[in-house]
Amino acid sequence: MLRSLMPNVYRCVLTVVAVACVAFAASAQTLSLEERIQQCGGCHGEDGNSKLENIPSLAGQPAFFTLNQLVLMREGVRRVEPMMPFVKDLKDSDIQALAAHFEKLTPQASDEKIDPALVERGAKIAAQRRCASCHLPTLAGQEQMPRLAKQRVDYMIMAMNAYLKDQRQGADTNMTAAIFGLSPNDITALAHYAASR
Ligand code: HEC
Ligand code: HEC
Repeated sequence: MLRSLMPNVYRCVLTVVAVACVAFAASAQTLSLEERIQQCGGCHGEDGNSKLENIPSLAGQPAFFTLNQLVLMREGVRRVEPMMPFVKDLKDSDIQALAAHFEKLTPQASDEKIDPALVERGAKIAAQRRCASCHLPTLAGQEQMPRLAKQRVDYMIMAMNAYLKDQRQGADTNMTAAIFGLSPNDITALAHYAASR
């Protein structure tokens, strides 16, 4: 009884996989910009402001920064496993359109708690380390330099630690130099300061 059922089960599984693959291949080629934006919104927030831990907001990011990062991710240089399925088949024109879209959205602070004492300390370190010389005095970012203002605290701490440990592939070495030698408390203070701007 069991033996005679087995081949049918396998056939069924194979059919389901084949149908799923065909459906995926078709959708990968024909996704509209709107559909792609919706996919991104599942993690980065519908309005480009992330509500999820360690996932950055994209709203108000300089288009050139987003474009750069998406190319690095598509080429597998900056490896972000959860994003691979969403970037691997992006065309240059898709990347340009997505980057332009997110630049136009309004950044909003996350609901993480901001500590005023850390903001004050972070402001001093930022002045010493001249963060504004690249990220602008408003910390809105420019060209390949990302917006830090209203970015998530947890994400910025994670990102700065990745630079310090040389774990962010494809990154500009200027950034590692800018925070070289800072303590974990200094990094946290900088993140609170930047998020509060
Ligand atoms: C499954 C969740 C998920 C989806 C869907 C997703 N992302 Fe991401 N994305 C992430 C995570 C997680 C990171 C942070 C990775 C890291 O640095 O560890 C990230 C980082 C980024 C960054 C880098 C931002 C920065 O400040 O460094 C950009 C740009 C980006 N995503 C754009 C997109 C776009 C555009 C889409 C839609 C095509 C998309 N993402 C879909 C999870 C996702
Ligand atoms: C010489 C220019 C320069 C200076 C000074 C600088 N940065 Fe950056 N920063 C960059 C660039 C370029 C990137 C993007 C690098 C990449 O491709 O990963 C970046 C990325 C970042 C990121 C990652 C954000 C994201 O969305 O992924 C954070 C956080 C950050 N900088 C914080 C700071 C802080 C805080 C300071 C001051 C202590 C600072 N930066 C000083 C150039 C600079």
